[in-house]
Amino acid sequence: MAILVTGGAGYIGSHTCVELLQSGHEVVVIDNFCNSSEESVKRVKKITGKSVKLYGGDVRDEKLLDRIFNENKIDSVIHFAGLKAVGESCAKPIEYYDNNLGGTLVLLNAMRTHNCKKIVFSSSATVYGTPKKLPLDEECEIGGTTNPYGTSKYFQEIMLRDVYNADNGWTVVLLRYFNPVGAHESGMIGEDPKGIPNNLTPYIAKVAIGELKEVGVFGNDYDTPDGTGVRDYIHVVDLAKGHVAAIDKITSAGVYTYNLGTGIGYSVLDVIHAFEKACGKKLPYSIKPRRAGDIAACYADAGKAKRELGWKAELGIDEMCASLWKWQTKNPKGYNGD
Ligand code: UD1
Repeated sequence: MAILVTGGAGYIGSHTCVELLQSGHEVVVIDNFCNSSEESVKRVKKITGKSVKLYGGDVRDEKLLDRIFNENKIDSVIHFAGLKAVGESCAKPIEYYDNNLGGTLVLLNAMRTHNCKKIVFSSSATVYGTPKKLPLDEECEIGGTTNPYGTSKYFQEIMLRDVYNADNGWTVVLLRYFNPVGAHESGMIGEDPKGIPNNLTPYIAKVAIGELKEVGVFGNDYDTPDGTGVRDYIHVVDLAKGHVAAIDKITSAGVYTYNLGTGIGYSVLDVIHAFEKACGKKLPYSIKPRRAGDIAACYADAGKAKRELGWKAELGIDEMCASLWKWQTKNPKGYNGD
């Protein structure tokens, strides 16, 4: 039996494919490469020495999904495919809802038709909106999202719950990621953002390699120890292993929700300094105004995943920065530099 990984060529998808293959699972990938590269799948094969069946195409393509389910014995799906840039989602809400909600609907319909009723969904801590308490546990209220990307994740969680409510034979696992960073230890796969990165760690990496001039620190007057924003950064390999745990440990029907984070918050300045250690040089930065929509602090209570999945993050901020630096130096132009 195989696992269908939608968006399996992307950043988190490719790392998850490695961990699935290394723990003995068979993997089928569908990806439309709108924010990823076929090269990542080739590298996943190189790292693991295993094969991956790859379909180039969109999850909204009903005919293609039908073909994939007919040609393979798929018993579960890990659904990553979707658009994920916060700023872009505010400018293109129709594209975001079409891709993210439309894609999930077509996928769920195909799964129902082919009697495949286990789905692990790539959700985000963004569904909590502005945290009312910290750390965030899975019982915290969700909603109050501030951008179409976040709202699409929230809606998708609700859609998946409704599918379970209508048919209790489904197994739905909602994984709420905190801030995924870093890269595989081989330096062969990693995050490959197009254009100027929006997120902190890829931006820092581009400053370290000399492609960008300095890091802009968005605000130093938050109510946090050093005034800069605090987040729960999680190594992408730990995150990938969380998916394997969800696939392996959850075998009965139901809706399950887990935070995947480390439970530790680091400030923007903490991350810059940790990266300086990893790359061995001082990094220029300057304080800028706050970024619209940002919150002061966000970190997980990751206890439920440990109790129920036996999973916990093992890698710390130094490993996150070192692996990102290795990926960046080995692939200064990302996958297309080859
Ligand atoms: C954002 C999204 C989150 C998404 C994540 C992907 C929201 C509100 N946030 O998280 O849903 O899953 O990206 O990883 O939906 N910062 C700087 N300078 C920079 C860039 C960032 O100071 O050049 C600061 C930010 O103000 C923040 C921290 O670094 O305090 C992390 O920012 P970022 O990496 O963009 O992630 P989030 O905004 O936390």
